[in-house]
Amino acid sequence: MIRASTVSEMVNQFPGAIPVFEKFNIDFCCQGKLPFAEACRHAGVSEEEVIAALYQPAPAFNATLRAQDWSLDLLTNYIVQNHHQYTKRVLIELLNLADKVCHKHGAHHPELTEIRDQVQALNKELQAHMYNEEHVLFPAIQALVKESARLLPSPDSIAKSMSNLDPLILTLETEHELAGHFMNRIRSLSTNFSTPPDACTSYSTLYQLLKEFEADLHLHIHLENNLLFPKTLSLQARQQEKPLYVN
Ligand SMILES: [Fe+2]
Ligand SMILES: [Fe+2]
Repeated sequence: MIRASTVSEMVNQFPGAIPVFEKFNIDFCCQGKLPFAEACRHAGVSEEEVIAALYQPAPAFNATLRAQDWSLDLLTNYIVQNHHQYTKRVLIELLNLADKVCHKHGAHHPELTEIRDQVQALNKELQAHMYNEEHVLFPAIQALVKESARLLPSPDSIAKSMSNLDPLILTLETEHELAGHFMNRIRSLSTNFSTPPDACTSYSTLYQLLKEFEADLHLHIHLENNLLFPKTLSLQARQQEKPLYVN
Protein backbone atom coordinates (compact mmCIF):
# COMPACT_ATOMS: atom_id res chain seq x y z
CA MET A 1 0.00 0.00 0.00
CA ILE A 2 2.66 2.53 1.12
CA ARG A 3 5.08 1.38 -1.58
CA ALA A 4 2.52 2.08 -4.31
CA SER A 5 1.81 5.65 -3.12
CA THR A 6 3.68 8.71 -4.29
CA VAL A 7 5.54 10.64 -1.60
CA SER A 8 3.26 13.67 -2.07
CA GLU A 9 0.18 11.48 -1.50
CA MET A 10 1.77 10.16 1.67
CA VAL A 11 2.55 13.67 2.95
CA ASN A 12 -0.93 14.94 2.06
CA GLN A 13 -2.62 12.12 3.93
CA PHE A 14 -0.14 11.97 6.78
CA PRO A 15 1.73 15.27 7.41
CA GLY A 16 3.70 13.53 10.18
CA ALA A 17 5.72 11.93 7.36
CA ILE A 18 7.35 15.32 6.64
CA PRO A 19 10.01 15.23 9.41
CA VAL A 20 10.75 11.58 8.58
CA PHE A 21 11.27 12.41 4.90
CA GLU A 22 13.41 15.41 5.88
CA LYS A 23 15.56 13.14 8.06
CA PHE A 24 16.19 10.71 5.18
CA ASN A 25 16.56 13.45 2.55
CA ILE A 26 13.53 12.18 0.64
CA ASP A 27 12.32 14.92 -1.69
CA PHE A 28 8.55 15.22 -1.15
CA CYS A 29 8.15 18.66 -2.76
CA CYS A 30 9.86 19.01 -6.18
CA GLN A 31 9.94 15.22 -6.72
CA GLY A 32 6.65 14.60 -4.87
CA LYS A 33 5.16 12.69 -7.80
CA LEU A 34 7.69 9.87 -7.46
CA PRO A 35 6.44 6.57 -6.00
CA PHE A 36 7.72 5.91 -2.48
CA ALA A 37 10.06 3.09 -3.55
CA GLU A 38 11.68 5.22 -6.25
CA ALA A 39 12.02 8.22 -3.92
CA CYS A 40 13.84 5.98 -1.41
CA ARG A 41 16.20 4.80 -4.16
CA HIS A 42 16.94 8.42 -5.13
CA ALA A 43 17.71 9.26 -1.48
CA GLY A 44 19.90 6.16 -1.10
CA VAL A 45 17.92 4.73 1.84
CA SER A 46 16.14 1.42 2.29
CA GLU A 47 12.34 1.41 2.15
CA GLU A 48 12.21 -0.72 5.30
CA GLU A 49 14.20 1.80 7.32
CA VAL A 50 11.92 4.67 6.28
CA ILE A 51 8.74 2.65 6.86
CA ALA A 52 9.97 1.74 10.35
CA ALA A 53 10.53 5.45 11.10
CA LEU A 54 7.06 6.30 9.74
CA TYR A 55 5.48 3.92 12.24
CA GLN A 56 7.22 5.57 15.20
CA PRO A 57 4.93 7.81 17.34
CA ALA A 58 4.10 10.88 15.24
CA PRO A 59 5.98 14.02 16.27
CA ALA A 60 3.83 17.03 17.20
CA PHE A 61 5.40 18.92 14.29
CA ASN A 62 2.83 19.76 11.65
CA ALA A 63 0.28 17.34 13.07
CA THR A 64 -2.43 19.99 13.14
CA LEU A 65 -1.70 21.62 9.79
CA ARG A 66 -4.24 19.53 7.82
CA ALA A 67 -3.60 21.72 4.80
CA GLN A 68 -5.12 19.12 2.49
CA ASP A 69 -8.56 20.29 3.73
CA TRP A 70 -7.92 24.01 3.25
CA SER A 71 -9.70 26.23 0.73
CA LEU A 72 -7.68 27.82 -2.08
CA ASP A 73 -8.13 31.21 -0.39
CA LEU A 74 -6.65 29.97 2.87
CA LEU A 75 -3.83 28.16 1.10
CA THR A 76 -2.73 31.21 -0.90
CA ASN A 77 -2.99 33.51 2.14
CA TYR A 78 -1.06 31.09 4.32
CA ILE A 79 1.66 30.68 1.70
CA VAL A 80 2.10 34.45 1.39
CA GLN A 81 1.82 35.34 5.09
CA ASN A 82 3.80 32.43 6.43
CA HIS A 83 6.24 31.26 3.76
CA HIS A 84 6.79 34.25 1.47
CA GLN A 85 7.26 36.71 4.35
CA TYR A 86 9.72 34.35 6.04
CA THR A 87 11.58 33.66 2.78
CA LYS A 88 12.00 37.36 1.98
CA ARG A 89 13.19 38.18 5.50
CA VAL A 90 15.64 35.28 5.80
CA LEU A 91 17.07 35.74 2.30
CA ILE A 92 18.31 39.21 3.35
CA GLU A 93 19.94 37.71 6.45
CA LEU A 94 21.47 34.89 4.39
CA LEU A 95 22.90 37.29 1.79
CA ASN A 96 24.56 39.41 4.50
CA LEU A 97 25.84 36.44 6.49
CA ALA A 98 27.16 34.56 3.44
CA ASP A 99 29.04 37.67 2.34
CA LYS A 100 30.49 38.27 5.80
CA VAL A 101 31.52 34.63 6.38
CA CYS A 102 33.00 34.37 2.90
CA HIS A 103 35.21 37.42 3.49
CA LYS A 104 36.34 36.18 6.88
CA HIS A 105 36.85 32.46 6.19
CA GLY A 106 36.93 32.18 2.38
CA ALA A 107 40.73 31.88 2.23
CA HIS A 108 40.73 28.68 4.33
CA HIS A 109 37.36 27.36 3.14
CA PRO A 110 37.10 28.01 -0.61
CA GLU A 111 33.67 26.32 -0.77
CA LEU A 112 32.25 29.43 0.96
CA THR A 113 32.69 31.47 -2.21
CA GLU A 114 30.45 29.12 -4.15
CA ILE A 115 27.97 28.93 -1.27
CA ARG A 116 27.72 32.73 -1.32
CA ASP A 117 27.22 32.67 -5.12
CA GLN A 118 24.53 30.01 -4.80
CA VAL A 119 22.73 32.02 -2.10
CA GLN A 120 22.80 35.07 -4.38
CA ALA A 121 21.45 33.06 -7.31
CA LEU A 122 18.78 31.48 -5.11
CA ASN A 123 17.73 34.91 -3.87
CA LYS A 124 17.37 36.25 -7.42
CA GLU A 125 15.38 33.23 -8.51
CA LEU A 126 13.05 33.14 -5.49
CA GLN A 127 12.34 36.88 -5.46
CA ALA A 128 11.19 36.80 -9.11
CA HIS A 129 9.32 33.55 -8.50
CA MET A 130 7.38 34.86 -5.48
CA TYR A 131 6.61 38.11 -7.32
CA ASN A 132 5.07 36.06 -10.12
CA GLU A 133 3.01 34.03 -7.65
CA GLU A 134 1.79 37.04 -5.69
CA HIS A 135 1.03 39.24 -8.70
CA VAL A 136 -0.06 36.78 -11.38
CA LEU A 137 -1.00 33.31 -10.18
CA PHE A 138 -2.57 34.00 -6.79
CA PRO A 139 -4.83 36.83 -8.08
CA ALA A 140 -5.86 34.50 -10.94
CA ILE A 141 -6.71 31.79 -8.38
CA GLN A 142 -8.77 34.26 -6.35
CA ALA A 143 -10.66 35.30 -9.50
CA LEU A 144 -11.25 31.64 -10.36
CA VAL A 145 -12.61 30.94 -6.86
CA LYS A 146 -14.90 33.98 -7.08
CA GLU A 147 -16.15 32.98 -10.52
CA SER A 148 -16.74 29.37 -9.42
CA ALA A 149 -19.02 30.59 -6.61
CA ARG A 150 -21.37 32.30 -9.10
CA LEU A 151 -24.51 30.54 -10.18
CA LEU A 152 -24.50 32.38 -13.51
CA PRO A 153 -21.38 33.26 -15.47
CA SER A 154 -20.17 36.85 -15.19
CA PRO A 155 -20.12 39.00 -18.36
CA ASP A 156 -16.37 38.55 -18.81
CA SER A 157 -16.39 34.81 -18.14
CA ILE A 158 -15.93 34.07 -21.87
CA ALA A 159 -12.62 35.92 -21.84
CA LYS A 160 -11.62 34.27 -18.56
CA SER A 161 -12.52 30.85 -19.88
CA MET A 162 -9.89 31.37 -22.57
CA SER A 163 -7.12 31.92 -20.02
CA ASN A 164 -5.44 28.74 -18.98
CA LEU A 165 -3.30 28.48 -15.86
CA ASP A 166 -1.55 25.25 -16.92
CA PRO A 167 1.52 26.85 -18.60
CA LEU A 168 2.08 29.26 -15.70
CA ILE A 169 1.85 26.46 -13.14
CA LEU A 170 4.26 24.36 -15.20
CA THR A 171 6.75 27.24 -15.24
CA LEU A 172 6.44 27.71 -11.47
CA GLU A 173 7.01 23.98 -10.90
CA THR A 174 10.16 24.15 -13.03
CA GLU A 175 11.35 27.12 -10.96
CA HIS A 176 10.75 25.10 -7.78
CA GLU A 177 13.05 22.42 -9.18
CA LEU A 178 15.68 25.05 -9.89
CA ALA A 179 15.44 26.38 -6.31
CA GLY A 180 15.76 22.77 -5.11
CA HIS A 181 18.95 22.37 -7.17
CA PHE A 182 20.45 25.51 -5.60
CA MET A 183 19.65 24.21 -2.11
CA ASN A 184 21.04 20.74 -2.90
CA ARG A 185 24.26 22.30 -4.13
CA ILE A 186 24.55 24.40 -0.95
CA ARG A 187 23.87 21.30 1.19
CA SER A 188 26.55 19.38 -0.67
CA LEU A 189 29.15 22.21 -0.53
CA SER A 190 28.56 22.63 3.20
CA THR A 191 28.70 18.84 3.82
CA ASN A 192 25.13 18.79 5.12
CA PHE A 193 25.53 22.12 6.91
CA SER A 194 28.26 20.88 9.24
CA THR A 195 30.65 23.59 10.40
CA PRO A 196 34.45 23.08 10.63
CA PRO A 197 36.21 23.34 14.05
CA ASP A 198 37.45 26.90 13.31
CA ALA A 199 33.94 28.25 12.56
CA CYS A 200 32.97 31.49 14.29
CA THR A 201 29.44 32.33 15.49
CA SER A 202 28.49 33.92 12.15
CA TYR A 203 29.68 30.79 10.30
CA SER A 204 27.57 28.52 12.54
CA THR A 205 24.58 30.87 12.28
CA LEU A 206 24.85 30.85 8.48
CA TYR A 207 24.74 27.04 8.31
CA GLN A 208 21.97 26.77 10.92
CA LEU A 209 19.90 29.37 9.07
CA LEU A 210 20.50 27.63 5.72
CA LYS A 211 19.31 24.35 7.24
CA GLU A 212 16.14 25.96 8.62
CA PHE A 213 15.58 27.77 5.34
CA GLU A 214 15.83 24.53 3.38
CA ALA A 215 13.24 22.83 5.63
CA ASP A 216 10.86 25.77 5.24
CA LEU A 217 11.37 25.80 1.47
CA HIS A 218 10.47 22.10 1.30
CA LEU A 219 7.17 22.76 3.11
CA HIS A 220 6.51 25.84 1.01
CA ILE A 221 7.05 23.98 -2.27
CA HIS A 222 5.08 20.99 -1.00
CA LEU A 223 2.03 23.19 -0.29
CA GLU A 224 2.23 24.65 -3.80
CA ASN A 225 3.21 21.60 -5.90
CA ASN A 226 1.14 19.00 -4.09
CA LEU A 227 -1.91 20.96 -2.88
CA LEU A 228 -2.34 24.45 -4.34
CA PHE A 229 -1.52 23.65 -7.97
CA PRO A 230 -3.54 20.39 -8.26
CA LYS A 231 -6.54 21.97 -6.47
CA THR A 232 -6.36 25.00 -8.79
CA LEU A 233 -6.14 22.87 -11.93
CA SER A 234 -9.04 20.74 -10.82
CA LEU A 235 -11.22 23.80 -10.08
CA GLN A 236 -10.21 25.27 -13.44
CA ALA A 237 -11.24 22.03 -15.17
CA ARG A 238 -14.64 22.04 -13.41
CA GLN A 239 -15.13 25.70 -14.37
CA GLN A 240 -14.26 25.04 -18.01
CA GLU A 241 -16.87 22.28 -18.14
CA LYS A 242 -19.64 24.68 -17.00
CA PRO A 243 -21.86 26.06 -19.80
CA LEU A 244 -21.16 29.73 -20.43
CA TYR A 245 -24.77 30.63 -21.23
CA VAL A 246 -27.90 29.62 -19.40
CA ASN A 247 -31.04 29.59 -21.54
FE1 LIG B 1 5.49 30.45 -3.05
FE1 LIG C 1 6.48 28.68 -5.52
